[in-house]
Amino acid sequence: MEQKIKSIEAEVTAFAISSKETLENFRLKYISKKGLIPTLFDDLKKVSAEEKKNAGKLLNDLKQLAENKFKTSQTELDDSSASSSADIDLSLPVIPNRVGNQHPLSLTRYRIIEVFEKLGFNLADGPEIEDDWHNFTALNFPPNHPAREMQDTFFIEKNPDRLLRTHTSNVQIRLMKQQKPPIRSIMPGRVYRNEAISARAHCFFHQVEGLYVDKNVGFADLKQTLYHFAQEMYGKDIKIRYRPSFFPFTEPSAEIDISCLICKGNGCNICKHSGWVEIAGSGMVHPNVLKNCNIDPEEYTGFAFGMGIERVTQLLFQVNDLRLYSENDIRFLKQFKTVM
Ligand code: DAH
Repeated sequence: MEQKIKSIEAEVTAFAISSKETLENFRLKYISKKGLIPTLFDDLKKVSAEEKKNAGKLLNDLKQLAENKFKTSQTELDDSSASSSADIDLSLPVIPNRVGNQHPLSLTRYRIIEVFEKLGFNLADGPEIEDDWHNFTALNFPPNHPAREMQDTFFIEKNPDRLLRTHTSNVQIRLMKQQKPPIRSIMPGRVYRNEAISARAHCFFHQVEGLYVDKNVGFADLKQTLYHFAQEMYGKDIKIRYRPSFFPFTEPSAEIDISCLICKGNGCNICKHSGWVEIAGSGMVHPNVLKNCNIDPEEYTGFAFGMGIERVTQLLFQVNDLRLYSENDIRFLKQFKTVM
């Protein structure tokens, strides 16, 4: 028996496997149910207990040898056939290369920037973690203004206060401190407010701030600039109106509404049946704000505005739930590829 095992072992070692066919022949001859090795296991049952001990071990080794040889040859053959061009099916459809697309808020932001850049506004940026002075005090917020309180503002540290900016108006202050007029900039960015998350409110959102400070800048410049913006953004038929309002940092201040795009001014749910939707706050820069930035209000005047990018996007695409913008649902996001 031992002799027989040894001679088969020599055969197995010498067996040349060069193709799938020879691999299959090898399997049939040695490993398969009726192959030589299983037959030897049957024979093993017939030999004496003494002989069985040694022969059993040899036979197990042989089995291992044959199986290993089979497996390694099989992987080698698979690998080489995968890279052989003869097996590539050129008629198969290609696997699509999914490149993704811009987020709707980015699309809107770029479009807003484009409109204002054509009017000569440059792009400016400021920190999201801000101190009280840039976010409130320099903007003429009185010490007891409710926006400073805990329920609206995320404070990081108290005394001295460090907070997440509640609006992009902090960048106005940084710009006016850094450079002399003329200043004509737009400042997009993320802002934070401590609000419960719902379809209409979120703890963070995006704004674009605008600032134009120079000699002889008047309210008419503000009106015409934002009218032009609304037309570029929403089409020539858009109507715009200014409602008197209050912001500590502008005087006079106005809220800007545009005619509702959904119902064309006839009244619907989006415009709460008024025919108008609010898109921005604006006004003439308050003399105190200019003074806080060492700009002489007798020499220079300016206008400023701030709009929510989510709101501008909502009106472009009729998105009625703010949460969709930050949920990263691919089914929502991929709809904005070709719209703009
Ligand atoms: N900062 C205001 C807000 O977050 C928006 C705003 C209103 C900005 C009027 C301005 C402005 O620059 O002039 O509600």
